Amino acid sequence: MRPAAAIATAAVPEAGALRGRDFLSLHDFTPAEVEGLVASSLAWKRGGAAAGARPLAGRSVALLFLKPSTRTRVSFEVATAALGGHAVCLQGGEMQLARGETVADTGRVLSQLVDAIVIRAFGHAEIEELAAAASVPVVNALTDLLHPSQALADMLTLRERFGHLGGLRVAYVGDGNNVCHSLCFAAAKAGFALRVGAPEAFRPDPQVLEAARADARATGGSIEVTADVREAVAGADAVYTDTWVSMGFEAGAGARRRALEPYRVDAALMALAAPHAVFLHDLPAHRGEEVTDEVMDGPASVVFEQAGNRLHAAKAILAAIL
Ligand code: CP
Ligand code: NVA
Repeated sequence: MRPAAAIATAAVPEAGALRGRDFLSLHDFTPAEVEGLVASSLAWKRGGAAAGARPLAGRSVALLFLKPSTRTRVSFEVATAALGGHAVCLQGGEMQLARGETVADTGRVLSQLVDAIVIRAFGHAEIEELAAAASVPVVNALTDLLHPSQALADMLTLRERFGHLGGLRVAYVGDGNNVCHSLCFAAAKAGFALRVGAPEAFRPDPQVLEAARADARATGGSIEVTADVREAVAGADAVYTDTWVSMGFEAGAGARRRALEPYRVDAALMALAAPHAVFLHDLPAHRGEEVTDEVMDGPASVVFEQAGNRLHAAKAILAAIL
């Protein structure tokens, strides 16, 4: 592990490089653009080059959440205000969406009223549809398929800890879900080695794996999947897990819990990772299910720092696209 002092002073990427772009998946960005967003997140966190900058002055951002959220919503709301903008927070149930207005028409209308739309939805196709119809940039605040703003904060957390991302060995164990998928793209873009430990029934989406592996050819990153949780974790620099029952998947909760039981992150599993390994979780955690209290509250856990990094990642995303 490199000492913290070895972390390069992060520079904000050239202003305007990503202006007007949607942020729907890390797959849509080059490795240099992803590195720029990680560096920008770090710069916002340190206050350095960006201190006092208010790139959203006079701008409004709609935050539209069709599923619950604590971290993502608060991060984007606080980030918008900190950058000088105004956030309009909307819950799906209180919008005309709930009475049948289409996602596309919602995108068209919000484009007349605000400068960017941050949306958490169920199907990924929904936010693609909204983004296609909207004339302002759209940010994916989580879909059933992807959670890219989380992955940006995850990269920031690893970068701060280890001083670099390229060559790191990261294990993700549990459900091959949205968080796992965006971590696959993070590995591909940042050039780290991701080993996913998941049971057959809950492996990551094959199309995501194929796309991420294709992306990884440019960086030396890799994505492997194994059903052997011990093999996934062996020697890892970081061990990551997420809930076994994601929002919208409650119907199959019993089968998921049974299949994923051997993938719980406990002290015995963490002991197989490198001695300096950190524990990551996007949160909310279901203590006693995917992770034990001992690991969540133990010395390797960086989960609350990781949650705090959501704010800096949100600032980097909003400042880049606006
Ligand atoms: N990790 C994450 O996205 O948390 P929220 O659901 O609270 O936003
Ligand atoms: N995989 C989880 C992430 C929550 C932030 C879900 O989609 O519910």
